[in-house]
Order: sequence, then C-alpha cells, then structure tokens
Amino acid sequence: MDDPDELCFCAKRTTEFSGLGGWSLGDCLQRCKMSTMNGINAYGKELSNEQIKNKEHRDFVGGLWDEIGKLQMDFLIKSGLKPHHKLLDIGCGSLRGGIHYVKYLREGNYFGLDINDSLIKAGKIEIEEAGLSNKNPNLIVDDKFSFDLFGSKFDFMVSISVFTHLPINIIVRCLSKARESLTQNGIYYSTFFQAPTSCHLKPIKQIPGGVFTNYDSDPFHYSIEELAIMAKLANLEVNIIGDWEHPRNQKMAAFSLPK
Ligand SMILES: C[S@@+](CC[C@H](N)C(=O)[O-])C[C@H]1O[C@@H](n2cnc3c(N)ncnc32)[C@H](O)[C@@H]1O
Repeated sequence: MDDPDELCFCAKRTTEFSGLGGWSLGDCLQRCKMSTMNGINAYGKELSNEQIKNKEHRDFVGGLWDEIGKLQMDFLIKSGLKPHHKLLDIGCGSLRGGIHYVKYLREGNYFGLDINDSLIKAGKIEIEEAGLSNKNPNLIVDDKFSFDLFGSKFDFMVSISVFTHLPINIIVRCLSKARESLTQNGIYYSTFFQAPTSCHLKPIKQIPGGVFTNYDSDPFHYSIEELAIMAKLANLEVNIIGDWEHPRNQKMAAFSLPK
C-alpha cells in the first residue's frame, strides 16, 4: 500500500469501516469520485476487479449471502410478488437478493439501482455465473435515486439493509423519488433498525446479531415515529410490518401512496 498519510479522508474512513485496505490519494479521487456516501457509510469505496474475483462483494454487502438472499425473496413472494410484476431493488448492491428475484421474475421485470459501480459490476458477474443473462435485468448506477431513468412504474419496490446505512434526509429523498415511480397500488418494502423512542441518542445492541446501531452514524436506528415523519415528508403512508425473521434484527416497513 502507498504511504497512509497520503490517503484522502474518504479512503481512510472507508478503510476503518470495512477493513478492506486503503488507496493512494490519486486512486481514491479517481475511483470513489468523492461519492456522496463518503463520511456517511462504507459504500463510497469501489471494490477492485481482484476483490470482485475473490467474491469480496458478498461480504461487503453484509455477508450471509445465501440466507439473506433467500429470506428477502421468500418475504416478497409471501407479500404477493408474482412473475409478471415489475420489481425495483433500491440499493441492490451485488444482487444478493437480485439473483433470486431475476430467476423468479419474467424477463426484463427486475430493475436494480445502486450508488456503487463496483457492486453493480459484481452483480452482473453473479448473474452471468448463475446462467441468468437471458433474463435481461436492468441495472443502473446512480446517487440520487433517479428511478425515472428506467422509464417504468413499479408494482413492488424493496430495499434491504439500505435505510440502516442512511441518515434521514437521504432516506426522504429516496422515498420522494419512490413515490413518483410506484404504481397506484404499488408497495415499497424497506428494512430498518428500530429504536424504542425518537431521538434515541444512546447506541442500541440489536439482538439477534449483536450489531450496535446509532442515532446519527452508520448503522442508523429509527423509531416508528421517525419513520412516519419521513413517510409524511415524502407524501407516503407507512405500515410497520416489524419482525420478518431477519438474523440481525432488521425490521420491515411498507410504504404506499396515500389512499
Ligand atoms: C448492506 S448493502 C445491501 C445490498 C442489497 N440490498 C442486499 O440485500 O444485498 C447496502 C447497499 O446500499 C447501497 N447504497 C448506499 N447508499 C446508497 C444510495 N444513496 N443510493 C443507492 N444505493 C445506496 C450500497 O452501495 C449497498 O450496495
């Protein structure tokens, strides 16, 4: 590795968070392009081709690759997802869930958006290795939740382990953009770490899993009232599903257009 003093702020911070090694200042500026996630969470860091080859993207999105991939798919099927529906996977990462969704849905009905170019690249490789290229998933890299780029409305939207890494203002942007792209009866499921009260400043140890969550740093926790405020700001309704047997105690919320 190059001289660590030469690492720029975002490279140092993502290195601390993810333990995935640092870059030189030049590398960093070129590869992370001062991602809007730097200083917020680890996802401003782009994985190298070597890291993708070693399947490090599977841990970068949280690990438990098979378990959480299948869990989210089973949840959406129980919630009414059918092969003819159009599904938007927000913060799809390297397609831990995407692989299952693409297999289940009709050709062209899976849409994934993520801020991290290298994770989308890794997801494309996962699709190819799973023999699913003929299902033509639609994948976009974008940092402003520009779902309109897909030119479609969605019956289902999902974000698994995404709000857990984001502060309120970015979640509200996501919800506002989601509102514009949901069909009239569409539904958007998203996971979050729950806090017992609003403005819960002390860290919470989430059981099961043992993850410590925080009020104002990654990973973030939110009360039901705070989620309701975010939904209201985006002109959406929210229904708290709660437990869905996530191994790290993430809860489920469902957002929909006001009736
Ligand atoms: C813990 S990973 C989960 C990925 C995927 N949902 C899954 O279940 O494997 C969080 C993902 O959210 C993405 N993400 C974080 N901030 C984002 C943003 N502002 N816009 C889009 N994606 C974002 C990250 O790049 C990462 O892929």
